[in-house]
Amino acid sequence: WGTNGHRICGQIADSYLNAKARKAIKEILGDESIAITSNWADFIKSDPAYSYLYNWHFINLEKAYTYPELQAYLKADTITDAYTKVNFLTAELKKKATTKANKLLYLRMLIHIVEDLHQPLHTGHLSDKGGNDVKVVWFGKESNLHSVWDSELIDLQQLSYTEYTTMINHTTLAQRTEWQKAPLSQWIYESNQMADKLYAETKTGDKLSYKYNFAHIATLNQQLVKAGVRLAGLLNQVFG
Ligand code: ADE
Ligand code: ZN
Ligand code: ZN
Repeated sequence: WGTNGHRICGQIADSYLNAKARKAIKEILGDESIAITSNWADFIKSDPAYSYLYNWHFINLEKAYTYPELQAYLKADTITDAYTKVNFLTAELKKKATTKANKLLYLRMLIHIVEDLHQPLHTGHLSDKGGNDVKVVWFGKESNLHSVWDSELIDLQQLSYTEYTTMINHTTLAQRTEWQKAPLSQWIYESNQMADKLYAETKTGDKLSYKYNFAHIATLNQQLVKAGVRLAGLLNQVFG
């Protein structure tokens, strides 16, 4: 996601933390909110000291996997990607021995990656860099399929992240419980299924505008809410 997408997911997660997790997170982040810390992993991207974090933001899947196929793929996955790193970060944050500095780095990365995994094209093809090479025209200007989903659709709504959160953050306990109990592999499966449809629908050179927004904004908003709800569930489990 872009700046606002991450902040929206973070703000939603913040609304579903338990007291214990809230306190532990406050000790790590200080006065920085989850919404604001969500952007750190993108803001440090140009610093060579952090270039090793590049592949942590996504997992490339070359096709639409069935759920059993995906589970087998992930079970054998040892490369640096969003899946292996979410597992790594979760484990490290649970350890008492993890240093304060590492806890800050790991928490910022965990928050960011869980959010990114709900952007369907963060589970897209390596060959087109998750849709970055699918060049499209967005309201008359050059863009690409990845950016349309990271930022363009969200920016089109012309809302601050707090206004956007107020608009979309409506869930029932039953819905939250269902989303939170799904394992990480299921989150990736859902995104990958969506990415497959998005790839099939849009080709290089397509002109996208209001019609594309109308067709997809509800799905996009649901992914933002799911990301926030699941992030809260994970943080409650790690720190609760
Ligand atoms: N951003 C940059 N490269 C990417 C990739 N291969 N997949 C998804 N997002 C990306
Ligand atoms: Zn992205
Ligand atoms: Zn990212």
